[in-house]
Amino acid sequence: IRENQISQNGHLIIGGVDSVELAHQYGTPLVVYDVEKIRQQIRAFKQIFEEENVDYAISYASKAFSAIAMYQVANEEGAYTDVVSAGELYTALKANFPMKKVSFHGNNKSRKELEMAVENRVGKIIIDNFHEIDLLSEILKEKNSEIDVMLRITPGISAHTHEYDQTGQVDSKFGFDLESGQAEEALQKVLKNSRMHMLGIHAHIGSQIFELNGFQMAAEKLMEIANDWREKYNYTAKIINVGGGFGIKYVQSDHPLKPEEFVKAIVKTIKEKAQEFDFPIPEIDIEPGRSIVGPAGYNLYTVGSRKDVQGLKPYVMVDGGMGDNIRPALYQAKYETVLASDPRAKATETVRIAGKYCESGDILVENQALPSTKPGDILAMLDTGAYGYSMASNYNRNPRSAVVFAENGRASLVIKRETLDNLISLDRFYE
Ligand code: LLP
Repeated sequence: IRENQISQNGHLIIGGVDSVELAHQYGTPLVVYDVEKIRQQIRAFKQIFEEENVDYAISYASKAFSAIAMYQVANEEGAYTDVVSAGELYTALKANFPMKKVSFHGNNKSRKELEMAVENRVGKIIIDNFHEIDLLSEILKEKNSEIDVMLRITPGISAHTHEYDQTGQVDSKFGFDLESGQAEEALQKVLKNSRMHMLGIHAHIGSQIFELNGFQMAAEKLMEIANDWREKYNYTAKIINVGGGFGIKYVQSDHPLKPEEFVKAIVKTIKEKAQEFDFPIPEIDIEPGRSIVGPAGYNLYTVGSRKDVQGLKPYVMVDGGMGDNIRPALYQAKYETVLASDPRAKATETVRIAGKYCESGDILVENQALPSTKPGDILAMLDTGAYGYSMASNYNRNPRSAVVFAENGRASLVIKRETLDNLISLDRFYE
């Protein structure tokens, strides 16, 4: 928490707005985004590309957080966006996001989804497999249409948090395999199809990655493939897309590079390889999701009950949990939480912050140093902006949170809280 995030009365401020007041006004659990932070991260990426003087696209991976207001902000900042479903595409469409700046991803896009993408003239389809080539080819013929495509390949690098392995034979459900010749076969198919315009090559090696090496290897690999395909097929890729995955700091022990530093290294690698191969420097596209929205998001909860267990960490229970943030339960993800009314207060105990869902695994934070808390206190969990709301569920028939955008001292409700009637709105009596 920085000094400028504390109000005169000592409360946590988000986007210039008092977090405790937000919690009281909109209720909890509440998701709040500091919109300026979103803008700053997109601008930081942009600045690297401008400095490096290359063609580029920053394509916000909207699976991290998809909402009309989010596409609006991404568009205002000149970003492109990735969608992976009819739902995300529909949301972008309703946000008036320019369809030519949309890329459609996915390892099993349905006919309906592809039709929707073609009808709305999305900018690019990132083709993932042979079935998709056939399906898209049929649809383009039926609709007498054309579309720009890229091929997603499995680069033989599987990156994990804090590590990367290089595997000869990559076992991934995404993309065309290189070793077996799948990728080349796909290229030939696409080049033969006059309705598909082959823009370039895509790879995504993982998410929440801290090491540079994986990205550098992926960038090198993509350039090697581009060079190989130029020699063999006289095809020159115009775009190299290295995906997303730039790690962010969730807890004190995380020490990632700044997201834009990863990008700088990627650009350097691609430039070097281009020079080595005497290859025209391609447009470089990135697809960050987490790094754009993660640090900008806060989950606000109200403290309720408490359970003390002899000799063990007490449970401090909050009014949300795995329904609004599944990441701790699913990935053992770690977060920092502060007391919103006094984020700098001296910690007096270490507690477990437990959710309200009927599941023992619904623990949001396993080890949180906090000052003493009482029912009604507001806790702010930090850096929850990526894959929190977007992975929310109605487990236990809890309504999903509201989402507020805060900027320059103003708060704006961008997703309403679900009501109990919303929850049953699709239910029908058994007849
Ligand atoms: N591009 C592609 C093709 C992707 O599959 C992804 C994420 C991204 C870009 C964006 O990656 P990011 O910059 O956000 O790391 N639910 C998981 C993360 C799943 C990531 C899926 N793909 C989590 O909460 O950690």
